[in-house]
Amino acid sequence: MSSGVADAYTRRSAEYIDLFGSMTAVHHADLHLVSTWADGISGPVIDAGCGPGQWTNHLVSRGNDARGVDLVPAFISRGRREYPGVRFDVGRLDDLDAESSSVAGVLSWYSLIHCEPHDIQMPLREFSRVLRPGGGLLVGFFTWPTLERFPHAVIDAYRWPVTRLASEVEAAGFEIVETYERVEAGARPQGAILARRLPDLKQ
Ligand SMILES: C[S@@+](CC[C@H](N)C(=O)[O-])C[C@H]1O[C@@H](n2cnc3c(N)ncnc32)[C@H](O)[C@@H]1O
Repeated sequence: MSSGVADAYTRRSAEYIDLFGSMTAVHHADLHLVSTWADGISGPVIDAGCGPGQWTNHLVSRGNDARGVDLVPAFISRGRREYPGVRFDVGRLDDLDAESSSVAGVLSWYSLIHCEPHDIQMPLREFSRVLRPGGGLLVGFFTWPTLERFPHAVIDAYRWPVTRLASEVEAAGFEIVETYERVEAGARPQGAILARRLPDLKQ
């Protein structure tokens, strides 16, 4: 899933950083949701698909032990430059540089939207692998009554029925804690899934 996505975001990285690379661009409900989720996380957090790093920095500034990972070197350089002291690494959602069961939280804020639906278990299972049992996952995404590909400004993306993406999250080893959907005039419907990593099954 990654090289077309990386190329597309690299081409438009300056524009993306201008538009979305600060917390002033964030909807108040999202700020509340992510901040409240993060308050309940004690231990290392990965902002998986961190883009320009504004959420990673937000988490760190609130006291979380967070680091950002993204495919796009221009975003990682920007994060390092803008937020010195916060760790950012180039990396892939489906191949995180973290020991199994070592992480307390994974934030995947609109970073799964470009993933082909038949591949979505790969990043979700990687999140499950790195999270410790009981660890928290928060996924932000675009919603729609049916699973549908659409022309996102950077590169085509998918919008999901909340229940359908929640089933994928469950299949990767999570229990769903809560789901949200926000439909507002003039904006794409948006959703969020909060989930908890299940304990490993006994052999
Ligand atoms: C819509 S942006 C969201 C960025 C950031 N989370 C935010 O809220 O501003 C999607 C991000 O996910 C990253 N991404 C998509 N697929 C990825 C993958 N397979 N591995 C790592 N990053 C990925 C993209 O490079 C991009 O920065």
